[in-house]
Amino acid sequence: MWWESKGHLEIKNNELYIANYSAVDLAKRFGTPIYVYNARRVIDNYQRFYNTLKKYADREVRVHYSMKANSNTYLLKILKEKGCWIDAVSPEEVLLAINLGFEENKILFTGSSLSHDDLLQVKPFKIRINVDSYSCLLKMKELDMKNEISFRIDPGIKGVGHNWKTITAGIEAHGHPIKFSIPIEELDFAIRLAIDLGFDIKGLHEHVGSNWLRKEEVDEFLETVKILVKKAKEVKSKFGINLDFLDLGGGPGIRYKEDQNEFPLEYYASNIFEILKDIETNAVSFEPGRYIVADAGILLVKVTEVKIRYGHIIVGVNSGFNHLIRPVLYNSYHEIVNCNNVEGEMEEVNIVGNLCETGDIFAAKRKISKVREGDILAILCAGAYGYSMSSRYNSRALPKEVVLDGERAYVCKEFYAKNEFYVSLT
Ligand code: LLP
Repeated sequence: MWWESKGHLEIKNNELYIANYSAVDLAKRFGTPIYVYNARRVIDNYQRFYNTLKKYADREVRVHYSMKANSNTYLLKILKEKGCWIDAVSPEEVLLAINLGFEENKILFTGSSLSHDDLLQVKPFKIRINVDSYSCLLKMKELDMKNEISFRIDPGIKGVGHNWKTITAGIEAHGHPIKFSIPIEELDFAIRLAIDLGFDIKGLHEHVGSNWLRKEEVDEFLETVKILVKKAKEVKSKFGINLDFLDLGGGPGIRYKEDQNEFPLEYYASNIFEILKDIETNAVSFEPGRYIVADAGILLVKVTEVKIRYGHIIVGVNSGFNHLIRPVLYNSYHEIVNCNNVEGEMEEVNIVGNLCETGDIFAAKRKISKVREGDILAILCAGAYGYSMSSRYNSRALPKEVVLDGERAYVCKEFYAKNEFYVSLT
């Protein structure tokens, strides 16, 4: 199968194995619905990303893991050990990162529509604040905040993303005005204001959208980098500011579907540093979320019923869009594998959740190997924006999470991991 990968997802005796454990056994042992994460895969993804950038880099590379993609505490801790920095978007994320031991100066807080209260919560910490509105700057002044800042700017051209809801640059996306950042043409004004208010400006930031994969899409992103670099040079010449960093945001996509390619990481890295030659900074920052965790996470669900309705096979499972909202919210494709019968005879089915909504569909008219009640289905590439976007809709419980790390499994039952514990898998 196109998704097989040694030591991560394998087929043995027609069953699915995740990180060398039978998915069916994991489901029995820990119960379903459950997110299963392979820690080694997360580390591999991170290392591949960092090492490839470093190979072309002429300066420090900072990888700020975008924890909104998945804030599982175990994964955050292993990423911290590998040297990751953090992209946080809420006071809650900032506090979680600090509690887990991330150094304050390695956290960049990029909020949106921030309140006084949000800012007050982060005021005690020496994190950097990535300002995306004048209002934010003025609130920081009112609160007498002394944090170093950067500006999130809009390059003035269209961003890139898998769905209009994840395009974050340009004037509009699909007819919807975009809310993020300060337009590049206003940056001089914003900088003057910040200087007058006494802020120390350390960087410029952009994040133009999420999940771009094809070379042409990378090219669109690179155009925005050129604009950012040009502006950074002007900032230096006009204001004499030597920027500590340029932050190029996140967005690198992953292969969700057979007919897609892997992200062209070498192309991305080599081109970025070619463009950056024109500007001196201490560091360049990146904020990948999906690329690090998406393919490391699998949502295991149990088939609760199979019924035939007007000739359609309806496969009901014990989960729904409360646990993985991406198919419903963005029409996103997730490969679904029958763990009990991976390579069996195929049939066309509709895989639906247990919520009381017609739209609660994981996959419509999808070919999958024959399914029976009680089978375990694996929804692949669910490690990013899966659990972190889950809800308690219909008063259903949140899904469970388990991280497989070699011979140990780390179980985390609550979002803030109050009752975490290890169990031996051997
Ligand atoms: N930096 C900023 C400022 C962001 O807003 C985001 C994502 C990232 C970095 C990380 O982007 P990534 O590398 O993961 O593409 N829920 C959607 C994705 C929303 C992304 C929001 N911002 C989805 O499931 O596709």
